[in-house]
Amino acid sequence: MCGIVAYIGHSNALPVLMDGLRRLEYRGYDSAGVAIFDGGQIHLRKSVGRIANLAEEIERNPVSGSIGISHTRWATHGAVTRENAHPHTDKSGRLHLVHNGVIENYQILRDQLIERGHVFHSQTDTEVLAHLVGEAFDRATSRNVASLVEALRQALRQVVGTYGISVVHADVADVIIGARRGSPLVLGIGKNEHFLASDVSAIVAYTRDVVYLNDYEIIALQAEGFEITTVSGNGADYQVSKVEYSADSVDKGHYPHYMLKEIHEQPNSVRDALRGRLCLEEATAKLGGLNMSNADLRSVDRIVLVGCGTAFHAALAGEYLIESLAHIPVECEFASEFRYRNIPLDRDTLVFVVSQSGETADTLAALRESQRKGHRTLGICNNVASTIARESDGGVYMHAGPEIGVAATKSFTSQLTIFALLGLLLGRIRHLSHGEGLEIIASMEKLPDLVARTLLLDAQIAAIAKKYAHSKSFLFMGRQAQFPIALEGALKLKEISYISSSGYPSAELKHGVIALITEEAPSIFIAPRDAVFEKNISNIEEVKARKGPVIAIGTEGDTALAKICDDVILIPDCPHYLTPILSVIPLQLLSYHIAVELGCDVDKPRNLAKSVTVE
Ligand code: AGP
Ligand code: GLU
Repeated sequence: MCGIVAYIGHSNALPVLMDGLRRLEYRGYDSAGVAIFDGGQIHLRKSVGRIANLAEEIERNPVSGSIGISHTRWATHGAVTRENAHPHTDKSGRLHLVHNGVIENYQILRDQLIERGHVFHSQTDTEVLAHLVGEAFDRATSRNVASLVEALRQALRQVVGTYGISVVHADVADVIIGARRGSPLVLGIGKNEHFLASDVSAIVAYTRDVVYLNDYEIIALQAEGFEITTVSGNGADYQVSKVEYSADSVDKGHYPHYMLKEIHEQPNSVRDALRGRLCLEEATAKLGGLNMSNADLRSVDRIVLVGCGTAFHAALAGEYLIESLAHIPVECEFASEFRYRNIPLDRDTLVFVVSQSGETADTLAALRESQRKGHRTLGICNNVASTIARESDGGVYMHAGPEIGVAATKSFTSQLTIFALLGLLLGRIRHLSHGEGLEIIASMEKLPDLVARTLLLDAQIAAIAKKYAHSKSFLFMGRQAQFPIALEGALKLKEISYISSSGYPSAELKHGVIALITEEAPSIFIAPRDAVFEKNISNIEEVKARKGPVIAIGTEGDTALAKICDDVILIPDCPHYLTPILSVIPLQLLSYHIAVELGCDVDKPRNLAKSVTVE
């Protein structure tokens, strides 16, 4: 959620900050600001709206200096106004601070600060941090790096909540201070320059050498070096990591939007999720990162899958996949519910948390709650350096590459691919024969090509999108493993086109949803040739009898759907446990083209942010 970029060195900070903010804009984009220190004074520029507005503001009112902090906001406390945009200042006006996260006890702290004579200029929770640090620093007997770090420590000991922060002070000319708890922060190491950011994508164009900070760590950044300590005042060990991907992989390339680029990357991202994980010799999947022996896996008698949003939908589809391939009971939980529900977990239950970003606050809390209960808890993540990836007891990486579009696409199909691998692995330890294992492997190996073939439907889907784009609502229906795909299709459309849409199991229609059917409300049926195809046909007939337009996703070669549906999109045939990986693609494309048709901002839909690091 939201982004921080900071620079200290000998070059002009502004281009680095603006470039970083643009790369982070997908994480939050309601307002933005920079504070640039020119060695004597700190200059503040803020503006409501996109980074482009901030750039215009700076063009009108230029700033330069070789130290700077910056922020793109996703408001949690206080409206989207210039006053609420970060950086925020302390009482002296000499300290500037940017913050990602939420200060839960800000109201009490604010009241106390007001009593002590502090005047607030915003409605944010963040501003208390600026005042607290400034107040502690003003009490210090010296004005140097150590006393500024100590002031930050004292402030942080008073707050409850989550933070990734970055601070500059006009009285300490050569340092930026940062700290984290619950919101990610990464240090970039350059030659006589250093960077601090909430996401590595903001700084990867400048350096590949990074240090991921841990919770309760404080960093003091100078042009020539850095020091990491903890909030409690101890020194901290750190490891320098190499970022694997390049700045190019976070560019749009020739695509008009990240979302379209990422949809079209799916043949490769699915291939990368499978790479090196299919073992012909043993006719099974190899997932070494689980850190579990076959005997450990054999004793698992229940699996709980936990996630939010699209990751939760992947979990629901994963439930069908694992149950049908491995015959192990699977349950899915919203992470936000799991963390407070106190669900009974017995010893042989295996918990997986699913998260593209690996930073989603609810999912991270679910992971910690599960571990606190002594449960082995595994992660399915895309972001290798994320908090969830680091804190889980093992897991499976998606290897999908950076996903920038706020609407998750390629991460979803990677998650489904991983569930198929898990189903195969767990099934082969139980009832699946060597021959059956080989058949499943053969189908999985064909998957990337089938995904590529499905993407050839793009032009047909764009035409269908044009036809229906102005509908006021949509219903998405599917049965069994296609039901989560219906939910995901509805979420994609809601997120990026703001059209009211919902997903149901097809048979639920007659239990209430059918009341919504009108000539103006199209239904999308995901009805591949599977064991419930005929049942879907009956449900489609029920909609047609009430004059509802129907778009169907069917299997290549099918002729029955065309006879009763208004539009039919045919995807390649494949075994039922892999079909959801293909059937979701037309829905991703449909929502993309509808959003474009309606002139919506596809990559940065209103009110949303890519990574939800607040509760
Ligand atoms: C998906 O399109 C959404 N933007 C959102 O639901 C997302 O899937 C959810 O916030 C979970 O994110 P994560 O996978 O990074 O944990
Ligand atoms: N809670 C802070 C605010 O509303 C920070 C939000 C963010 O992480 O962007 O300003």
